Amino acid sequence: MRSTLLIVAAGSGSRLRAGLHKALVDLGDGRSLLQHCLDSVARAGDAAALDLAGIVVVVPPDAEAAGPLEQVCRDFAARTGLTVDTVPGGAERADSVRAGLAAVRAGAVADSTVGPFGRHAVLVHDAARPFVPPAVFRAVTATLEAGAAAVVPGLPVVDTIKTVSVPSAAEPDAEEGSGLDHEVEWVTGTPSRSTLRAVQTPQGFDLTALEAAHRAAAGGPALTDDAMVMEAAGHRVAMVPGDPLGFKVTTPLDLVLARALLQEDR
Ligand code: CTP
Ligand code: MG
Repeated sequence: MRSTLLIVAAGSGSRLRAGLHKALVDLGDGRSLLQHCLDSVARAGDAAALDLAGIVVVVPPDAEAAGPLEQVCRDFAARTGLTVDTVPGGAERADSVRAGLAAVRAGAVADSTVGPFGRHAVLVHDAARPFVPPAVFRAVTATLEAGAAAVVPGLPVVDTIKTVSVPSAAEPDAEEGSGLDHEVEWVTGTPSRSTLRAVQTPQGFDLTALEAAHRAAAGGPALTDDAMVMEAAGHRVAMVPGDPLGFKVTTPLDLVLARALLQEDR
């Protein structure tokens, strides 16, 4: 299915604390996180897991941070012949996705694969995931091809997950009489692990449906991923197998893992 890849790279990487923009962090082989992410996309293209009209990369709004990321995109486009556009993002991930969708639409129209007779897909992907294997891209696009409006890759959860009551400023005395002299959270339940999945990207959508869902969600409560935006709009979201290599580099520990995996490869 004809699709456009929308890579969001406009976050600040505050949890990684790398001192530079997260997508520019070197994985120890001279290539940045964004370069690795783009290279994994090229591998998926070579493996025929993607039929790409183009790539849109959402970069930070300030020129100083955006410049080096735009250069990475230009180099990749020159090397692969793929069309790569960059657009400035927003404060929250959802704002960055919305900014990117406008460019995706423009590219899809130019590609003449949208409109009453054509469906165009958008794959929303985190720049912070450097090693997603082609099989994950293929599983997502094949399920879109089969007619789903929304598809996410996911993995079974390995830890037991608890829900907790977070002490709120509104009810500071809710746990008074607990006998503890310091503040703790209280476990409120244990959801069955068999029904839990940890979600990854790329998340695939019918472009027109995702645009409408984002319009409907604008101004409402924060939605943490695009599947949630589609759920809120009443769409059913399909889940396909993710891959452990689809992990996101979020903390310094994730960076250690990413660098070690590359070392092992060499
Ligand atoms: N992202 C974005 N625009 C934002 C926030 C996040 O494009 N306003 C992107 C990030 O660049 C990243 C992806 O969304 O590729 C997943 O977000 P996350 O891992 O949370 O990255 P950051 O927001 O950069 O990191 P942190 O939350 O630690 O600051
Ligand atoms: Mg973030």
